[in-house]
Amino acid sequence: MKTFTFLLLFLLTCNASFANDNKVCQKCHPLIYKEYYNSIHRKSSLVNDKIYKAVFEKEHKNREKSNCKACHSPSAKTPQEAKETPISCIYCHTIRDVQEGDKVNKNILTGKKKDFYTAQADKKNESKVKYGTTTSFFGLIKQSKNSPYHQIEYNNENYYNGNVCMGCHSHVNNKNGFDIIMLDAYIDKKDKHTCISCHMPQIMGSKTTLRDSKTHAYHGIAGVHTMSQSLGKYIKIAVKKEKNGLSVKITNKANHALFGQAYREGVLHVSITRANKTTLLKPYIFTRVFGNNRTESMPFVADKVLKDTLIYANKEIKYTLKLQKGDKVTVTLGFRLISKKAAKELELQNDDELSRFKVLKTVSFQL
Ligand code: HEC
Ligand code: HEC
Ligand code: HEC
Ligand code: HEC
Ligand code: HEC
Repeated sequence: MKTFTFLLLFLLTCNASFANDNKVCQKCHPLIYKEYYNSIHRKSSLVNDKIYKAVFEKEHKNREKSNCKACHSPSAKTPQEAKETPISCIYCHTIRDVQEGDKVNKNILTGKKKDFYTAQADKKNESKVKYGTTTSFFGLIKQSKNSPYHQIEYNNENYYNGNVCMGCHSHVNNKNGFDIIMLDAYIDKKDKHTCISCHMPQIMGSKTTLRDSKTHAYHGIAGVHTMSQSLGKYIKIAVKKEKNGLSVKITNKANHALFGQAYREGVLHVSITRANKTTLLKPYIFTRVFGNNRTESMPFVADKVLKDTLIYANKEIKYTLKLQKGDKVTVTLGFRLISKKAAKELELQNDDELSRFKVLKTVSFQL
């Protein structure tokens, strides 16, 4: 009964204007809204992301009219929307298809405001799913199904294979035709995991307040900002004793290179504990150095890669310290959102949080 009273009130007030489209969704999807609100997809605009703002101002303000907004804040028509909903709920849930392009891809939207795509394996062929009620126990128990506010389309393959992410996440070529994201992401039918299963895993809590479900897709985006360590399970680390030292082998199960974003820096820390004394080996850095005319350059003017130490399918790193029986080897793989050097270039060195070391995975081996 409570639900029905709520619904009536809700539907009656629905035509009253909400501050923004997402606020409507918040009424029935509060948990997902809260996660979204703390996610990078809410913080992707110039007002919300310091790194993006610094790069934008340094390289673009007066140079060329690149359409950064197409991906960073496509739903922001007002300053308030740029702050609250740069990539809105409706935006993502109405991407019908992705059109491939040389410089960037493009999202093709349906333009509808109350008809959303999503994925659910057991309903994959259903479309135009509307709200309905069923009555059972001689009319005593009334049950509702689906949403009274909007229709749902379960039959768009892009929401199952991860292609819905690729309008923004495939590539961004600079004016030299050079891809500065270069995650090398691809979608392979044989892959067990997708962009969605790794970055939006099902976690505890109901999808909506109108119906109980045990889990929902995490909209906070597991990644370099939140839940980073949960991604560690997709990276395997092995240590091998060798004649003249040791080697660390990293196997990457993601369908893209690790730490591919320009300015990111992956870091590998290795330490050896022997007779209560711990020795730290020199950290190994995974990064790409961009260049133009044989000198180092900022990504947006680069035409080549001068150095590339990223992790693609796998990578082996060798150290010269000789191992002994009884040694404990601890390996930690992590990253900095921006390297200390980039922080200086972007004049962000005063913000410690941006170049703080964050852990993806830590493992110990006892010899
Ligand atoms: C009046 C309440 C209400 C409002 C407002 C509402 N929804 Fe829903 N939504 C629901 C209900 C109920 C379901 C069905 C859940 C189920 O059957 O498991 C649902 C389902 C969904 C689904 C599919 C979930 C699934 O797996 O079946 C998506 C996507 C969705 N809503 C997005 C949105 C967006 C985006 C907005 C804001 C524009 C919004 N909703 C506003 C109640 C609402
Ligand atoms: C085709 C979509 C697209 C366009 C256009 C685009 N970007 Fe991005 N940008 C992304 C995506 C996706 C990411 C996140 C990639 C990642 O984290 O690996 C990103 C990340 C960034 C980052 C890193 C932000 C951080 O917090 O670390 C910067 C800086 C950036 N973009 C600058 C720009 C600028 C400046 C422009 C305009 C010249 C631009 N981008 C245009 C999609 C785009
Ligand atoms: C970056 C794109 C993106 C944004 C932004 C986004 N969603 Fe989603 N959402 C998805 C995808 C993809 C799925 C399908 C997840 C899956 O396969 O389980 C999904 C699933 C859902 C579901 C069903 C949950 C489930 O477990 O099946 C609901 C409800 C939903 N979204 C509501 C919202 C609301 C409300 C907002 C805004 C607060 C929002 N979404 C913003 C991409 C997005
Ligand atoms: C409308 C464009 C757009 C779409 C669609 C989109 N993203 Fe993003 N995403 C971005 C931008 C822009 C950033 C970088 C924002 C920044 O750092 O300022 C980003 C950042 C990210 C990051 C890196 C940040 C982190 O914390 O790790 C991940 C992971 C990510 N998105 C996953 C996804 C997944 C999974 C999907 C598909 C369900 C998706 N995105 C769909 C634009 C988009
Ligand atoms: C098997 C799990 C897995 C799959 C599948 C996967 N990723 Fe990732 N992703 C990771 C891991 C682990 C990281 C953290 C390391 C890193 O930052 O590169 C990551 C990081 C990212 C980042 C942040 C990179 C950065 O440094 O800013 C983006 C953006 C991203 N993934 C997008 C995607 C997209 C888009 C897809 C689908 C094409 C995808 N991922 C598929 C595991 C996965």
